[in-house]
Amino acid sequence: MKNQTIKQLQNRTSIREFTGDSVSDDDLELIFKTAQRAPTSINAQQISLIYTRDKEKIKYIAELCGGQPQVATAEVFVFIVIDFNRTNYAAIAEGKTQVVEKCAEGIIVGAVDAGIMLSSLQSAAEALGYGTTAIGAIRGNSDKIVELLGLPARTFAAVGTTIGVPSQKAKSAPLKPRVPFESFAMEDIYENEKVKKGAYSYNEEFKAFRDKTGSGSLPSYFETTSGFYEKSYYRKTATVLEAQGFRFSDSID
Ligand SMILES: Cc1cc2nc3c(=O)[nH]c(=O)nc-3n(C[C@H](O)[C@H](O)[C@H](O)COP(=O)(O)O)c2cc1C
Repeated sequence: MKNQTIKQLQNRTSIREFTGDSVSDDDLELIFKTAQRAPTSINAQQISLIYTRDKEKIKYIAELCGGQPQVATAEVFVFIVIDFNRTNYAAIAEGKTQVVEKCAEGIIVGAVDAGIMLSSLQSAAEALGYGTTAIGAIRGNSDKIVELLGLPARTFAAVGTTIGVPSQKAKSAPLKPRVPFESFAMEDIYENEKVKKGAYSYNEEFKAFRDKTGSGSLPSYFETTSGFYEKSYYRKTATVLEAQGFRFSDSID
């Protein structure tokens, strides 16, 4: 018998259709307080959340995300912000100069912590019956997001998430399949042949899933993935990271 947490995690899916019912203040606070228990690298707590329930702002955020309707119709939108501004207060207090944001390592630390936070936050929201979708498309216009949120130097909005009450249809939609388990979890060593075989068989499985669920317009796994990854699809990320004081380097000169 699976426990409740495992059941919830195994049934999770991105929710892109909401009923329009509200997210209560108490629930929202509980979601954020639960997310705040997530681990962070060296306990530096270099993540901040900025959220809005303002419908006009949410519509504007949807526009910045390329007009995604699942954003426009969300009840709450949350930005997960890499926050080396907070940690810089430690450096100032100790009379030191912080350079973490100028290192490749800092960008990895921030991105990993942001992803962990996203997952905890979404799981907490789902446990209370809400639906969410991670929104990376905020990075498509990260300069405008800096402006909208008033982000100071050493901060960057890495990813966002919607929160809302899922429609019955969205809740009961079939789960998207995953690559074969043996090509995902490997013991001791990376097995390239398994990964390759898994990718090909997943492409076929995804086509079958698409045909079975009537989502005929969905591209295959290969089509989607190669389409995104043949280009640098959010073209402001490096520029805005640099404008915010970040650099991707092992040296700080
Ligand atoms: C970091 C990240 C960014 C994402 N960005 C978007 C996005 O901008 N818009 C969207 O509709 N879904 C977005 N997604 C959701 C993925 O498309 C989704 O997780 C994937 O298709 C698997 O479907 P599932 O979550 O329903 O299992 C994002 C997911 C992650 C983890």
